[in-house]
Amino acid sequence: MPTTGRIQQRRTYLMCRPEHFTVSYTINPWMEPANPTDTSRALRQWQALYDTYLRLGHDVELIDPIPGLPDMVYTANGGFVVDGIAYGARFRFQERVPEGPAFMDWFRDNGYDVVVPREVNEGEGDFLLVGDTILAGTGFRSTGDSHREVGEVFGREVVSLQLVDPRFYHLDTAIAVLDPVEGPGGVERADIAYLPHAFDERSQGILADRYPDAIRVSDDDGAVFGLNSASDGRNVIISPRAKGFEAQLRERGYTPVLVDLSELLLGGGGIKCCTLELRGPR
Ligand code: ARG
Repeated sequence: MPTTGRIQQRRTYLMCRPEHFTVSYTINPWMEPANPTDTSRALRQWQALYDTYLRLGHDVELIDPIPGLPDMVYTANGGFVVDGIAYGARFRFQERVPEGPAFMDWFRDNGYDVVVPREVNEGEGDFLLVGDTILAGTGFRSTGDSHREVGEVFGREVVSLQLVDPRFYHLDTAIAVLDPVEGPGGVERADIAYLPHAFDERSQGILADRYPDAIRVSDDDGAVFGLNSASDGRNVIISPRAKGFEAQLRERGYTPVLVDLSELLLGGGGIKCCTLELRGPR
């Protein structure tokens, strides 16, 4: 593994200001409505993430928050956007169902071709593009049928992975895509990090086969949502609590950038959850 020369790629992200953030229902083990939330703190922490992306030279677009949809801040779940095509989300739980059309409207209004989903799926929460391959999670939110559908929509190979720990209910809580470098002949290098224990044995085998050089993070780093991070190929935005992962990234020549989203973790989301990548022309 090279320790220098990581190349930054400029990204375009979609985010949503957590103006209406609170925890008023429970759809994952992190959410406890009895615990108070601090919306102004959530806003400050979110702003730090937004400012970090801009400082690193990325483009960030915003979707307007809608009252009554406190989880809308987690834009990663709003769809999956590749090649200028936005595959819409169809949420598992009633509380978030209205977010699906809201995000599809935004994609349409902003020049993306929208594919209205037939199957239950929670967007980039469960679909990760690694080079030319889509890693797809199931077990808690997106269905296996949505894996077939996403493959048809984008004409790419889909690798289904089974999540087994309810704390890691979306794929982006258990895998981080670090360096998906594409060249003329396809993927030249694909570096990921993952939490083995979040997956069943078969899926662990698939990950070990396909990504023998992957960073395997500790359970401690996984438990603070260390993997719920955003990489531009060089800078990796991670939680300041994920100390071991931070060291692993440095060893490989990445530059960890620490952003604390502790308030948003009360809703069961972190850095990646608040970040949807917009790929391709529109
Ligand atoms: N409260 C949200 C939910 O349970 C959090 C979503 C986190 N998003 C993510 N991409 N992991 O749906």
